[in-house]
This record gives sequence, C-alpha cells and structure tokens, in this order.
Amino acid sequence: MQGGLDREFDRASASDTLFIRARSFVSSNTGLPKTDTFCYSSVPNLVGNPNLTHGETQNVLCRYPKTPRKATMSNSNQKNTSAFSQDTLAATSAPLLDVGRGNSPLKAEIMESISQIIDSGRFIGGPFVEFLEQSVAEACDAKFGIGCASGSDALLLALMAIDLQPGDEVICPSFTFFATASAIHRLGAVPVFVDIDPVSYNMDTQKITAAITNQTKAIIPVHLFGQCSEMEPIMAIAAEHGLRVIEDCAQSIGAAENGKPCGGFGDIGCFSFYPTKNLGGFGDGGMLTTNDPELADKLRLLANHGMRPRYHHSVVGINSRLDAMQAAALCAKIKHLDEYAAKRQTNAENYVQLFAEAGLSEQVCVPTSPANGKHVWNQFTIRIADGQRDAVRARLAEMQVGSEIYYPIPLHQQECFEYLEAQNNLIETEKAATEVLALPIYPELTLAEQKYVVECLSKVLVETSVDLKMQTA
Ligand SMILES: Cc1ncc(COP(=O)(O)O)c(C=O)c1O
Repeated sequence: MQGGLDREFDRASASDTLFIRARSFVSSNTGLPKTDTFCYSSVPNLVGNPNLTHGETQNVLCRYPKTPRKATMSNSNQKNTSAFSQDTLAATSAPLLDVGRGNSPLKAEIMESISQIIDSGRFIGGPFVEFLEQSVAEACDAKFGIGCASGSDALLLALMAIDLQPGDEVICPSFTFFATASAIHRLGAVPVFVDIDPVSYNMDTQKITAAITNQTKAIIPVHLFGQCSEMEPIMAIAAEHGLRVIEDCAQSIGAAENGKPCGGFGDIGCFSFYPTKNLGGFGDGGMLTTNDPELADKLRLLANHGMRPRYHHSVVGINSRLDAMQAAALCAKIKHLDEYAAKRQTNAENYVQLFAEAGLSEQVCVPTSPANGKHVWNQFTIRIADGQRDAVRARLAEMQVGSEIYYPIPLHQQECFEYLEAQNNLIETEKAATEVLALPIYPELTLAEQKYVVECLSKVLVETSVDLKMQTA
C-alpha cells in the first residue's frame, strides 16, 4: 500500500493495527539509497563580473577535492542554455527555512494522531514512539532505536553508555554545533579537536590517528550539513586502536556511504529532531541507534533515570524521553523522508546549474558530494572569500534572502573551552568559520526563489567587489 500512515492509518482504532500498517509503509520506503549518476564539472574560474577583465580572477578559495567527487548536478542538466523554463513567476524573497510549508500538508493527519493520544491518556511512550524508534532504526540499518529528548541528550547518553570517565579523551571536530563537545565536557572528559577537510567540512580522516593518545576512548565523527563522514576508514582506525565510535547524525538522517546509512556504522548513532533538521519535529526530540543489544538496553535505562524496576536505580541516569505527541508529528513526516531528501538534492542541483549559468560556480565555491555517498543537504553551504562573507550576508538580508553561518566560532575558540590546551593546527576549521554561508535548501523552496537567491548573490558579489576595490585603491 502506498501511503502507510495515510487516512486509513488515521482512522484505525486499534493502535497495534495502526502500528503494523505504518511500519509496512516505512519498510517499503526506506530501501537502499538511490545511486544516481553524477558527473564532476570543473568550471574554469571566469567570473561574470563586469569589473574584471578577461583572465583576471577574484580570489577564489575553491579547493578541488582530493578524491573524485560527483558534482551536485546530473549530466542531463549540463547544457549551454538554461535548463530552466523562463516562465516561472519571479520571487522577491527567499527565507532560509519555512517549516510551515512542510508541516501544513500534514496538519490534519498530525492533529488526528494528537487527538488519539489525548484520548488514550498515554503521553510518554506508546505506539507512536515505538513506531518511530523502529522506523529510524530500519532507516539506519540498525537493530535498535531509542527515543530521547534531544540530539544533545542523545550524545550525552551515548557517552554515558560507553562509560566515558573523567580525563578520557574524545576526538571530534571543532567545526560543529556546540552539543558535540559539550556532551564530552559534561562527563569530565576532554574533547580533542581534529581539523576538517575543506571540501566536505567533515573531520579530516587523515588527521585522526595523530590525535590518538593513551587516554583516547572514542571518536565522534559529525556528518555535517547532511554528508557522511568517511566512515569505513574511521571504523578501521577505531578498530586498530580499540576506540568506540559515536556518530553525530543530527544533521544527516538518510545520508549514506557506499549505500550504508549513517547511524549504523559506529557503536551508537545520535539523531536530532530539532525543527530545522531534515526530519524536524514540533520542538525538541532525539534518537539513538545501535546494533548492540547491551548498549540498547543500557541507553534505555540511562534515559529513564537508570530506573528499573520502578523506583529502583541501579545507575544514575537522566530524564530524557521522547514524548508521544512529538513522536506522532515525526511519524507523519518520516514516511516522506526520502521525498524530502530527493527535493533537497534537486534544489542542490538547481543551485549548481544556476551558479554555473551566472558564472559564479567557483567564486562562491559550490559544495559537492562524494561519488560513493548520498548527501541529504541539511545545508547548502557556499564559501565567500576575502573577508567579504559578512558584508554579502548583510546585503542579502536587505534583499530578503535568508542565509546563516554554520559556524562562526569554532569550538576550540569558545570561551568555555579556553581551559583546553591551545590548538593551532585547526587551520581549515578557522578558515571555514570566516567564509561559510548557508543558503535556503529546504524541500519546499521553489525554483523561482532559488533563481532569486542566485540573482541577488550575483548582484551583491559585483557590488562587494566594487567596494573592495574602493577600499584598496
Ligand atoms: C551536529 C549537531 N549535533 C548535535 C545537535 C544537537 O541536537 P539538539 O538541538 O536536538 O539537541 C545539533 C543540533 O543543532 C547538531 O547540529
């Protein structure tokens, strides 16, 4: 049945029937990622800027990938003329994210589920939570899924479950959201930051081994912006040194390497359902995935105060549960996850084409994805060089184009981590922090809006370059 959690599901009265129907839908929709054919186009740096004469280039910071990578665009889109029809209505703004567009088509279905929950009086646990746990586990090729209150809690619980001790070291990137390292710190352990690969923005796999010491207990690869870290080599390093691997999958549900989804490689996968994520809820929520039955059991125990049976605490856990209403909203959305990822992929391809047509491909350093991976584009992050990024962003905002900087201050430069040994080897991390700019990429973004983004960026880059010339004249 195409539909699963559809109207029939909504009307089902017995929750078990409802659960089974929903699950059968998800199984049919969470197969291996598609293996589209892509090509890598290396466009010479000819910038469509009237202030530049032929052959003169602006400083471009695009570095070409170390390994063959596919561009975000398929062969069929590479034409001399625009691949897009000219008749789309022009847009005059483009928000960074409009969660309402994704949520409103599902509102009736979610309201119906919430109504069932209110009637049942079961607000913690229950069929929606169980369904979501099994669906996420299945989508990650993992045996177990354990709901929790947020992605931050998922990381903390994962580190608690592997018995991280004060003084232990955990290798992670500095170019990530704060929660990756705060979970380590909260257990009295020490984050050891490793620099990123400038193309993927993920931790540079080649630099991990040098960061391992006798104190190292685990590695946390973050699959940043929707792209898998190089998990096969990372797992090999971890096996060689007897280290645990906790995957930070907060931004990457559905991403894969060689057809294997993230969250199923390491000891534990940590997911976030924060509203901006690819599977975004109506508030906070998180999920842990694992293939290890002992870890799964421990994670469940730790997420419920270490309490089993009731009022008996064998270990000190925390209160971190995914509530039923949140799970109900996520159950309605998870069946569309592949569709959302496909739309994000199309939007990424559109940008590549539009930037190429505008002659901006290299000036803005368009992101790429590896030939062996499935990118799910939580963010479409370009780079703007020469210290122009913030000025460009401010001008885009004036033109009603939303953008965001993920992340302006790397973790090793945060005040709260000043106590850590100074690290001067995070060159790519520090460079990225001054240059990255995320553009709207969410599934419901229209082509007209994307055209508007590129048009505005084109104008702004011309202006900014003029400003720069005036300053340096
Ligand atoms: C890479 C990364 N890790 C962890 C988290 C924490 O997730 P949550 O906001 O659900 O606590 C986030 C959320 O922004 C994230 O982007």
